[in-house]
Amino acid sequence: MRIGIIGSGFVAQTLGGKLLELGHDVTISSRDTGRRAKTGWGTELPSPEDWAREHAQRGRGAGCGSFADAATFGEVLIIATAGAHSLEALASVDASALTGKTVVDLSNPLQRSGTVTTLSVVNTTSVAEEIQAAYPEARVVKTLNTVNVAVMIDPASLGAETDMFVSGNDPAARQWVSETLLKDWLGWTSVLDLGDITAARAQEMYLPLWLRLLGALGSANINVKVVKAA
Ligand SMILES: NC(=O)c1ccc[n+]([C@@H]2O[C@H](COP(=O)([O-])OP(=O)(O)OC[C@H]3O[C@@H](n4cnc5c(N)ncnc54)[C@H](OP(=O)(O)O)[C@@H]3O)[C@@H](O)[C@H]2O)c1
Repeated sequence: MRIGIIGSGFVAQTLGGKLLELGHDVTISSRDTGRRAKTGWGTELPSPEDWAREHAQRGRGAGCGSFADAATFGEVLIIATAGAHSLEALASVDASALTGKTVVDLSNPLQRSGTVTTLSVVNTTSVAEEIQAAYPEARVVKTLNTVNVAVMIDPASLGAETDMFVSGNDPAARQWVSETLLKDWLGWTSVLDLGDITAARAQEMYLPLWLRLLGALGSANINVKVVKAA
């Protein structure tokens, strides 16, 4: 399948690499495909051009381009931009490139000011809802934002079954994301369908707790399991 990733950071490159390994064609995207970005902890990433070249040399269907290029390329789109800027990134994309497509939003609206992190949209809305409102013909599904990218692409690495959450207005898109993307491709075994896209605000509001867990446990390789009494 052709997958267009809006974004070029650590998530875009790592998840994109996993999808390439699985045999899909992946285009990541950036405002400047020749520039090397840094992860949040300062590690320099390959430029999108180098990322695509290195994968293509291994015979994989990797590409890079503008946000509009990736949106046009993908049969399915993944939003992997800094969440406070996801709509800004999509502003350069013609709405027709999203029409009818499943748009998987894994971005988080984190906003850092010194040591304080807040959410740029919260309580009554979320990034995913704002994308859905701006592109009503897209089938937006919120998922994968509640784990780091290492867990995202290899949930079994945690050594126990944990939960992934899914929300979105289109039941068929939620079903495809749950059964195909999450279970068949990425190896998730427990997917909790939270219903319509307004649930995305809860998924995004989990981030302050995730950040505290990161601090308390000293590891980003963490996730939660929801237990319901029998
Ligand atoms: N890191 C993780 O393990 C993890 C796990 C789950 C979810 N997430 C979420 O996934 C998203 C991507 O995370 P990341 O760590 O890969 O990278 P990131 O640094 O959060 O985001 C990088 C991407 O955001 C774009 N961007 C930033 N400011 C922009 C602006 N003003 N206008 C347009 N685009 C802008 C960048 O575009 P350029 O390429 O043009 O610079 C780049 O493609 C975030 O929302 C994050 O919260 C991350």
